Amino acid sequence: MAYGLTEEQRMFQTMVHRLAEERVQPRAAEIDATGEFPWDMVDLFRENGLIGVGMPEELGGGGADLLTFCLAVEEVARVCATSSLIIAAQHLGAMPILIAGTPEQKAQFIPAVASGEKLSAFALTEPEAGSDAGGTKTHAVRVGDQYRINGTKVFITNGGLAKTIVVFASTQPDAGVRGISAFIVDGEQPGVSVGRVEKKMGIRGSQTAMLNFDDVLVDGDRLLGKEGDGFKIAMRTLDRTRPGIAAQALGIAQGALDVSYRHVQTRRQFGQALGQFEAIQFMLADMQTQIEASRHLLYKAAEVVETAGFDTVSSSEVTRFSAMAKLMCSDTAMKVTTDAVQLLGGYGYIQDYPAERMMRDAKITQIYEGTNQVQRLVIYRNMDMER
Ligand code: CAA
Repeated sequence: MAYGLTEEQRMFQTMVHRLAEERVQPRAAEIDATGEFPWDMVDLFRENGLIGVGMPEELGGGGADLLTFCLAVEEVARVCATSSLIIAAQHLGAMPILIAGTPEQKAQFIPAVASGEKLSAFALTEPEAGSDAGGTKTHAVRVGDQYRINGTKVFITNGGLAKTIVVFASTQPDAGVRGISAFIVDGEQPGVSVGRVEKKMGIRGSQTAMLNFDDVLVDGDRLLGKEGDGFKIAMRTLDRTRPGIAAQALGIAQGALDVSYRHVQTRRQFGQALGQFEAIQFMLADMQTQIEASRHLLYKAAEVVETAGFDTVSSSEVTRFSAMAKLMCSDTAMKVTTDAVQLLGGYGYIQDYPAERMMRDAKITQIYEGTNQVQRLVIYRNMDMER
């Protein structure tokens, strides 16, 4: 039982691995080159039950545990980071509803997200509230039994494509983080508009956009939890989704190692394959070691977070493991992909080979769902010195 995976998890991993090799990998370079959102990948993941794989079965999802969800993201990211983000972002958009939604809210919004009929988004970040997510300026004012939302969100994955958006807005500006509330907003309703669509270094096929909310009216039953619960809902969401980004990073790293290993077997210099040189062997050995260590931490984190469930308040162990997995896997992805470019030499630097794409894609994993500086802060605040 490698990595302690169950038979079912291994079979699932093999299925996704094949699907990724046969159907995703041939599209990866083109998705990156055109920067167009790959709707065909959405269809592929819908057909194969991957888009809502980690959402509850009774709400139309795959009912998979968090580790199985991570295996899906990892295997797809191994060949195409943009495509793996489709699965991870869908999970992120659904998570606040799964965590804090009433049974009615879950029944109303999750099935269409779980099936992929609607894309989802998590709208937390603002121009002046990135790492300091508590600095949210978007506000929601109660008008009768509705709320009127005004503000601007930036760097929203699936912005302009998502039809189910969880928006964080302050209902009590003088209360700081305790005044933030979370609302489910329909992406097509009046007042919601798409601003700039970002041109990015990597994950170029994923749409990242600014979203404007101008007098957006939502009914009171779109509020998640109570007024003022929003910041904690956001933090609890990230505790449960950062492992997905760690899985994406790990997949990118493994993909870069695959490419590097194949290259050094065939590329010959000074009369022998590159892989015959000890200096090259040492680099590959380090890459493999960093990936193995990262994988063990991630799979352990997935187990810790899974055990806590969707609807319990995170323990410091959950928060810490989630942040440690994201930190370590993304740093590994950056290191391993940079080394892969180096190992491929000139071929690493040109677009005919996937290494440079993988290096560009890896970078975002150190930034989104909380920069790695934020992860370190979170880890420090949740350290366990009792053991
Ligand atoms: N679970 C539950 N509650 C939590 C919590 C958690 N994990 N973390 C904090 N809280 C609670 C605290 O207990 C505290 O509660 P009280 O007010 O009752 O005491 C409250 O929340 C405020 O906590 P802090 O004092 O720790 O808050 P802070 O202002 O110092 O911020 C932070 C902490 C960790 C820096 C946080 O702002 C953060 O995580 N920032 C990064 C934001 C982020 O990850 N953004 C990613 C956007 S999404 C994205 O990137 C997706 C994508 O594109 C794919």
